[in-house]
Amino acid sequence: MSKNKKTLAQEADKYVLYQESVQDPGHEVDFFDKVFKSEFKRKPRVLREDFCGTFAICCLWAKKKDRIAIGVDLDPEPLAWGREHNLSKLKEEAQQRVTLLQEDVRSNGQVKADILAAQNFSFWIFKTRAGLLEYFKTAYRNLAEEGVMVLDMMGGPECLEENHEDIRKYGKGKKAFKYVWDQARYDPITHDATFHIHFRFKDGSSLEPAFTYEWRFWSIPEVRELLLEAGFPEVHVYWEGVDEDGEGDGKWKKRKSAASDPSWIAYMTAVKRNG
Ligand SMILES: C[S@@+](CC[C@H](N)C(=O)[O-])C[C@H]1O[C@@H](n2cnc3c(N)ncnc32)[C@H](O)[C@@H]1O
Repeated sequence: MSKNKKTLAQEADKYVLYQESVQDPGHEVDFFDKVFKSEFKRKPRVLREDFCGTFAICCLWAKKKDRIAIGVDLDPEPLAWGREHNLSKLKEEAQQRVTLLQEDVRSNGQVKADILAAQNFSFWIFKTRAGLLEYFKTAYRNLAEEGVMVLDMMGGPECLEENHEDIRKYGKGKKAFKYVWDQARYDPITHDATFHIHFRFKDGSSLEPAFTYEWRFWSIPEVRELLLEAGFPEVHVYWEGVDEDGEGDGKWKKRKSAASDPSWIAYMTAVKRNG
């Protein structure tokens, strides 16, 4: 390799790889529509995406004429990336329907949302009951009279194993890469956990880590109790069904209990009702 030739890692854009491997905005938007309609028998119009990063979900949401999206993130870097790569791809009139706020998710919003989404476990950044309760109270205020907060959760004994890597392959040819979810640290006393995302390439180069998350490992009952304490009258868990081979079937249904699973992902919804 000549001295000046860049490695695949040097040529890569971590946000492109993240969007390809982690995100599925179509799936999220379909889910938001489904849960809101099942609660209120009408379509949601205003989305607030907390911890929005490159706000791909906001951009898909705002493609529909009657919809507006508000993306909130503290970090100017993913917001700037999203403006250049996601927002710019929308028609001008759709771009006008996306508002970006570079601020803490615990700030009070001016526009009340029908759906308030906090995806990819991002609220695990709040490590104390008091901190998470404060966030959920703000989320409640940032919803309209009728609204749904949508969160996701993960768990199962495999998720607590240190130095456990979940590796998946994406792309073809030169663009092929491995996405690695690395469970680097889990403290059973505090539930402090460190996770990394790495991207590894065919030429042996890697972005390692591309992203790091310092979170508290929360459980569904803890999150449910805090959402109820924050004022939401109803909290639901959506659990994925299984197909004939025992794999997830992509169909998420409200469930009150579930069978043990070594590694699971679930949605939680917190419903705010008029009066
Ligand atoms: C795991 S990423 C999630 C990105 C995106 N929501 C997704 O689903 O892929 C977490 C994001 O939360 C942002 N963040 C962390 N703490 C925040 C806070 N208190 N207020 C606003 N954004 C925050 C980070 O800057 C980062 O972009």
